[in-house]
Amino acid sequence: MVHEILKMGDARLLREAKLITEFNTKALHTLIADMVDTMTAAQGAGLAAPQIGVDLQLVIFGSDEVNPRYPDAEKVPRTILLNPVITPDPLSDIEEDWEGCLSVPGLRAKVPRYTKIHYKGYDPYGNVIESLATNFHARVVQHECDHLHGVLYPMRIRDFSTFGFNEVLFAGMEMPIDD
Ligand code: NI
Repeated sequence: MVHEILKMGDARLLREAKLITEFNTKALHTLIADMVDTMTAAQGAGLAAPQIGVDLQLVIFGSDEVNPRYPDAEKVPRTILLNPVITPDPLSDIEEDWEGCLSVPGLRAKVPRYTKIHYKGYDPYGNVIESLATNFHARVVQHECDHLHGVLYPMRIRDFSTFGFNEVLFAGMEMPIDD
């Protein structure tokens, strides 16, 4: 079921989300299916549970199919991640690149992120997931996990001269993906 996506200004996007303590429940699987439906309908690169008003540490991102809008985009495998913890790689750079957010529609900015991270969490069955992500993949993971701690990307902008409306920033160009 497709849910409404909360927009910036809603206090529910600013909460520290709760840890998931029960895995493999019917309610959890329903929530995940709804998040996949909602992200797919919005053609997003990722979605966090707080964005549909659910106060839990759950993010989904990536796709096993090529997005027809962005056939050349770097591939991020479909991942469902519970209670994630991110650790930047000690050798990681920090790079600024474009980000958008389904909770901040119509806008984009350049946001600094680590280019190489390790992340750990659980799958819906309670199995440990440990992975390494780089570049765009790492950016998506950091963006989605920020939602679990009440952080929206505008809070991380350094150079506000890059913050603007899509149709102005990318006039006549292909737009970057929404996170
Ligand atoms: Ni977002």
